[in-house]
Amino acid sequence: MHATLEEFIKEHSARIHQVMSNYLQRLSIPDRLKESMLYSIEAGGKRMRPILVLASFKSYGEEIEKALSTAIALEMIHTYSLIHDDLPSMDNDDLRRGKPTNHIKFDEATAILAGDALLTYSFEIIAKDPLLTDTQKVKILQLLAESSGPKGMVAGQFLDMKAENKAITLEELEKIHTLKTGALLRFAVLSGAQIANASENQLKHLDEFVYYLGLVFQVQDDILDIIGDPNKLGKPTGSDVENEKSTYPALLGLEGAIAKKEEYIDWAIGALEKAEASNSYLLYFLDYVSQRDH
Ligand code: IPE
Ligand code: IPE
Ligand code: MG
Ligand code: MG
Ligand code: MG
Repeated sequence: MHATLEEFIKEHSARIHQVMSNYLQRLSIPDRLKESMLYSIEAGGKRMRPILVLASFKSYGEEIEKALSTAIALEMIHTYSLIHDDLPSMDNDDLRRGKPTNHIKFDEATAILAGDALLTYSFEIIAKDPLLTDTQKVKILQLLAESSGPKGMVAGQFLDMKAENKAITLEELEKIHTLKTGALLRFAVLSGAQIANASENQLKHLDEFVYYLGLVFQVQDDILDIIGDPNKLGKPTGSDVENEKSTYPALLGLEGAIAKKEEYIDWAIGALEKAEASNSYLLYFLDYVSQRDH
């Protein structure tokens, strides 16, 4: 990882973690529900999405504190999506972030409700943020609802389920990923830049950048499911083949998938230049996402 990005992550991830835990700790809710929410949040994870919010903010703005609640809200939504993704009726996985999945540690009903709670609480956090203007809040909340809801991540998860055990085209695969994974990454980049008052033109090109960033992330995810180290990943590999998932390597072969990734990286860099952010953490982030081993 680029040293500058590593420093940036080091500087901010502890703060993200601490503020996020505080938001949950202060809730007066049934103990077991709180425990279940905290369990998945504190299990760790790369915190890529909140870091991406801050990195995007930093490309155009100064005081990072302004973007913090949005970053945290996004990580809560992401964590909810993982809790539900692992449920027996979905991917039926036992291990996440190196620990038993939420429904294994607690029970299925608690896991479903912990997910629901993280999802809805995230909207409350943004709505109550004293550092954002009302206009900013409305814009961000709208974008968050669109990105995580039926037009975004949820649609992607649905299409992903439907595509199991059957052959799909590269175009269909990209559509699934753009919704399933890309929508939340898009929210990260656009919300961070919006809070920093980036121009319409910059936002337009960032939108293009994050489209390719999302695809790079997913190609790498698929590659890691084949050649990754389960210890580093904190989850088993080989599950895509086992579930007969359409993936980049399944459609293009491993070499083809790697070549495709390089193609997406070039497009992403081009878009970043047009967004006047090519000297920012976003560029290092792209590099990190494409090289990540977990
Ligand atoms: C995993 O996301 C799920 C996908 C969207 C493919 P991450 O790889 O960012 O998971 P954590 O947050 O680090 O656990
Ligand atoms: C999860 O995708 C995507 C969301 C939760 C939105 P996957 O099912 O491919 O992710 P892993 O492999 O379980 O981390
Ligand atoms: Mg899944
Ligand atoms: Mg899964
Ligand atoms: Mg996967």
